[in-house]
Amino acid sequence: MKPIERPDLGGPFPENIAIIMDGNGRWAKERGMRRVFGHKAGIDSVREITTECASMGVKSLTLYAFSVENWKRPRVEIRYLMRLLRRFLIDERPTLMENGVRLKAIGRIDSLPQDARDALHETEELTRENTGLVLRLALAYGARTELADAVRKLAKDVSAGALDADLIDDETLRQYLYDPEMSDPDLLVRTAGELRLSNFLLWQVSYSEIHIARCCWPDFRKPQLLDAMKDYATRVRKYGGLVMDHAPARERA
Ligand code: IPE
Ligand code: IPE
Ligand code: MG
Repeated sequence: MKPIERPDLGGPFPENIAIIMDGNGRWAKERGMRRVFGHKAGIDSVREITTECASMGVKSLTLYAFSVENWKRPRVEIRYLMRLLRRFLIDERPTLMENGVRLKAIGRIDSLPQDARDALHETEELTRENTGLVLRLALAYGARTELADAVRKLAKDVSAGALDADLIDDETLRQYLYDPEMSDPDLLVRTAGELRLSNFLLWQVSYSEIHIARCCWPDFRKPQLLDAMKDYATRVRKYGGLVMDHAPARERA
């Protein structure tokens, strides 16, 4: 594993980052190409952002790669995306290993094509012992679906007598999410200038700081990542409380 080099952001470092990778289709259209070329180009951004996050010592990076709503897209686009996913999961293995990255997935994984699931399972197994960045791919993911799936499992445990309904709190609910080990994102980035969550991590982003990048995902590279991190470093996180004395005067109560 390569040595970790944290950039000086002039403020707190975002340990946990989540990104809504948007604008692949627009990127391709602007260049007179078909949408799928944007998805292909987006893979280079995924590789660069993952590698940079790993070398800066980010703990977890969660990438929104395919939503439950994306099943509504044309069959050819879905087929292309699934093939691209499988290729990514196979081709990136050496890079993941070199950078100490552990790969995990969240979402309705059972709904993915079998060959993509096999590649996913093998990459998860291969990288299981890696201790650096945890790269989570949100695949066939929807936050409302995640919450419904969690509540269904939780209700079964209550009716089986394994869980006392009166003791359910936020932490109990977290245990039923797709990956209970996932920390809440400190920083949520969306590319392509869109100002919405599109059903991503609704529960987990309650107190995340949001950064909107204007560029489309295939153009989101190290400089844009550093811009997002520097933006985060200027934020004062209060979690509904009041700021401490060391915060800038304008932020004090
Ligand atoms: C994001 O890019 C990738 C996925 C949703 C799979 P889009 O495909 O949404 O690109 P735009 O937003 O149409 O430009
Ligand atoms: C969100 O992007 C989903 C992913 C990035 C995988 P979309 O392009 O699907 O979202 P909307 O439709 O613009 O809200
Ligand atoms: Mg989009």
